[in-house]
Amino acid sequence: MPTLLEPLIFADGTQLPRILPGPMEGVTAGAWLKILTGHRWVDAWWTPFLRISTGVPRRSRLAAWLQPYLATGLPVIAQIMGEDTARLAETARRLHELGAVAVDLNCACPSPVVVRNHAGGERLRHPEWIAKTLQAMKQSVGGAPVGVKLRIGYESPEEFSSCIASAVCEAKPDFVTVHFRTVQERYEPVSNGLERLASARTALPKLVVIGSGDLFTPQDAMAMHEYCGVDAVAPARGMLANPRLLVDITKFFRGEAPRNFTIQEKNQLLGEFVMYAPRHFQLQMAANLLGKNSPEFNAFLRK
Ligand SMILES: Cc1cc2nc3c(=O)[nH]c(=O)nc-3n(C[C@H](O)[C@H](O)[C@H](O)COP(=O)(O)O)c2cc1C
Repeated sequence: MPTLLEPLIFADGTQLPRILPGPMEGVTAGAWLKILTGHRWVDAWWTPFLRISTGVPRRSRLAAWLQPYLATGLPVIAQIMGEDTARLAETARRLHELGAVAVDLNCACPSPVVVRNHAGGERLRHPEWIAKTLQAMKQSVGGAPVGVKLRIGYESPEEFSSCIASAVCEAKPDFVTVHFRTVQERYEPVSNGLERLASARTALPKLVVIGSGDLFTPQDAMAMHEYCGVDAVAPARGMLANPRLLVDITKFFRGEAPRNFTIQEKNQLLGEFVMYAPRHFQLQMAANLLGKNSPEFNAFLRK
């Protein structure tokens, strides 16, 4: 099993780190990109989904959407979501031409609005559509890596080995991210997440599998890697509590002890969010970093 410290290398020569920031709509943008890139706490960016519904967005619109990610100078995975195969494939082509090193198809989002519109996690009910769309995207981007983001099922984890995995294997995407909850479970606690992910790994032989779900500490990442045999990890919410989490995971895999985040460092970081982020996000980060009931958070509120 490769260590998570070496890069993933794809057929066209593209390299991506194996410790990736999970995409987060409403978070992975503006201040977040600027601050975490500035500290070198990430080695690549993964955009949240871009919804493709009524038509293929014009190149100028796609360029404007990608710009903040490309401006970091780091490799960018662009994520798209929708129902129309041809539009998704054409959007993937344009995004790759505009500088995204890889394109990812979201078949995981559990938001009721998205699911009602037959996008995101709802696509898991149509595995043959997933295979067809991944194949069309692969043809369209001419050899650049194409990935897919999945949950373990729509209603039940059994769907994964009974029908989702075979469709995905048929399409041979370059990487597959699996979040171990079903769409209907949304973010409920799940007691057997690693067991589910280990069976998903087994059901996707020869494919690069990126693990997702409850990666809050370096120990969680190590446990997922060792127990499930995933090729890479993509923590998401854990980064909100510890924006340095990916570096801490890297250090842990190297055998180094992660450094404590001192209160001075937290306040300095919050100062950067005050400078660059909207007020609601400043408050969210202050609550995450300081603790909602702490005297430090109360002091932050009074500033
Ligand atoms: C606020 C928020 C927004 C998210 N947006 C996306 C998204 O745009 N695309 C995606 O593939 N996953 C998205 N996710 C899912 C995460 O990338 C990840 O798969 C999920 O949160 C489980 O990992 P975690 O337990 O480490 O957070 C989002 C999660 C959160 C909390």
